[in-house]
Amino acid sequence: MESARAIKQVVRDAENQEWVHDLTNKMEENVVEAYDQLGEVQWPIRNVLHGSFMGHPLHATVTDVPTGAWTTAFVLDAADVLFDQKQLAPGADAAIAVGLAGASVASASGWADWKHTKGSTQRTGLIHGLLNGAATGFYLTSFILRKTGLRGPGQILSTVGFGLTIAGSYLGGELVFDRLVGVNRAEPSEEPAEFTPIASVDDLEEGKPYRFEVNQVPVVVVKSNGTFYALSDICAHLGRPLSGGEVHDGCITCPAHDSTFKLENGAVVTGPAAYSQPTFDTRVNDGYLEIRSRHVAD
Ligand code: FES
Repeated sequence: MESARAIKQVVRDAENQEWVHDLTNKMEENVVEAYDQLGEVQWPIRNVLHGSFMGHPLHATVTDVPTGAWTTAFVLDAADVLFDQKQLAPGADAAIAVGLAGASVASASGWADWKHTKGSTQRTGLIHGLLNGAATGFYLTSFILRKTGLRGPGQILSTVGFGLTIAGSYLGGELVFDRLVGVNRAEPSEEPAEFTPIASVDDLEEGKPYRFEVNQVPVVVVKSNGTFYALSDICAHLGRPLSGGEVHDGCITCPAHDSTFKLENGAVVTGPAAYSQPTFDTRVNDGYLEIRSRHVAD
């Protein structure tokens, strides 16, 4: 549709501005530096902010809080102004406060996820963050004005904030549904449905990851403490190959952004991945390693 093309063009024009390039680089440096300063504490914090602890991106969950709360405030303010429903004012103020609390968590988780994006996706993510940051600023100022008796100006500022929230939400949708940020890149495969030989066990060294393609499914195979493990070679985080990673303590760490998965069942040990890595059944038959999908449909 022409309208969709026009909106996409506006996004592309915005993300290609020179100042957006410059600010993206600067912000990335700042976020990386902030993580470095946290030292070892960064790992549990990362697991919370990325949503690794609950198997779902935290950001996508908590953004509903400010968006929902500020939509409520907008409706209550509209009823107040248009139909003189003054008794709704405390409800609007409370909704703005709830939205501000949610926005702080959404912001922290959003910047954590943003750190791992690249190129035009990262620049669009920056604009998304700036719009939401500006919306938060408008709502915070609005809340202060409301509490000092300046309800009219406060309502004007929160209406501007609501418009910025809608624009930021549109870009959030663009990042997830068009740029695939925060989605599970390692979909479980139903192939191979039967045990399929992939290599002689004599050719597989202990502790070294090997990449194979089985029925067009990329698989990483590791021998650890004498046991063979097979996982999808597409990292659940942003789809990079796991097979270039390091094997240690019964786990494999993705070389791209350090997500670590258990070899045994693909569970996330540390993010940024929020989703488990699909695994395959393995067996040794006549000197050959064979693998089979654990997700064969009934
Ligand atoms: S692609 Fe990001 S951790 Fe693997």
